[in-house]
Amino acid sequence: MENKLTTLKLSKSDVEEIIEIEDIIEAVESAFKQFGNEKIQMPPKAYLYFNKHNGDYRTMPGYLEEEEIAGCKLVNSHPENKEYPTVMAVLILVDTETGYPYCIMDATELTAYRTGAAGGVATKYLSRKDSDTVGLVGAGVQAETQLRAVNTVRDIKEVKIHDVSSEATENLLKQIKDLNHKTKVCKTTKEAVKDTDIVITTTPVRKPIVKASWISPGTHINAIGADAEGKQELETKLLKKSKVVVDDYKPAIHGGEVNVPITNKEYNKKDIHSDIGKIVNQTKTGRTNPKEITIFDSTGLAVQDIASGWKIYQKAKQKNIGQKIELI
Ligand SMILES: NC(=O)c1ccc[n+]([C@@H]2O[C@H](COP(=O)([O-])OP(=O)(O)OC[C@H]3O[C@@H](n4cnc5c(N)ncnc54)[C@H](O)[C@@H]3O)[C@@H](O)[C@H]2O)c1
Repeated sequence: MENKLTTLKLSKSDVEEIIEIEDIIEAVESAFKQFGNEKIQMPPKAYLYFNKHNGDYRTMPGYLEEEEIAGCKLVNSHPENKEYPTVMAVLILVDTETGYPYCIMDATELTAYRTGAAGGVATKYLSRKDSDTVGLVGAGVQAETQLRAVNTVRDIKEVKIHDVSSEATENLLKQIKDLNHKTKVCKTTKEAVKDTDIVITTTPVRKPIVKASWISPGTHINAIGADAEGKQELETKLLKKSKVVVDDYKPAIHGGEVNVPITNKEYNKKDIHSDIGKIVNQTKTGRTNPKEITIFDSTGLAVQDIASGWKIYQKAKQKNIGQKIELI
């Protein structure tokens, strides 16, 4: 039983003070392993669609059975927001014995970190060990944490960036200055992904922007942007010649990088090599030779959030951060 009858409230600034990509990679890797071992519960995300306002609201419950960690992330997406961020998330951790909500936190930053961490874990298991160049297609919110996570698991030297918005590229360049990579701003997607060891796509596009012919043998790709029906960033031809690993089959088929080609019958779900959990727990092989192209198709799983939130909660307790409130 966690803290009796008090709830720890962690605000945006509390979480920002504690959160570190290395911790979140550790949490997400462990969550993927437990997922591979079938020691989790994770019902599908439930959606409310606010059709009058071009927005939606999702609930993402998850339970890591071995560690007795459970909770739910509540997150919106309102792309037309001006005063408020597009995405705002709250995570609640509940005691599995009693159901008591012992922690409530801002999970907006955590969402970008756990998405970055998933890319980091996939890169650890699927990319060539000598990978040292990264091509970022999309320089928005997800790009920074993707790069930080990949930089944690590989010795990255050079980063190429392409975004249709020069403002987004400029912002990202400022955010990643401390990593001391050689950076190159690219005018085209082709320039950013050609002769690049690790490609990371984080755009909301619905028509593929990365062509198969631009990708060299041995490349690893983190395909992050497609996380809803109708989205696709990579040419179907590229999927067909690559080893494709999804985070979870159902959401990937519904809204991941493979969703459009599967619906169009241009790609078969049987051609998906594995989910990431089975690679992390080593019941399936990851990369088997330096020439194959690997793709991680990420949609974002609730267990990533729950495991990461637990890590933040533990650190907050250690460092005496946050405010104890009487909620119930
Ligand atoms: N897989 C996951 O777990 C996960 C998690 C969070 C977000 N996402 C998805 O990732 C995508 C990016 O999210 P974000 O929070 O970084 O959004 P964002 O709006 O901050 O960034 C997206 C960037 O893509 C750029 N872009 C748009 N079209 C482009 C093109 N044709 N070529 C190059 N750049 C282009 C935009 O200018 C923008 O800078 C969204 O589709 C989002 O739904 C996935």
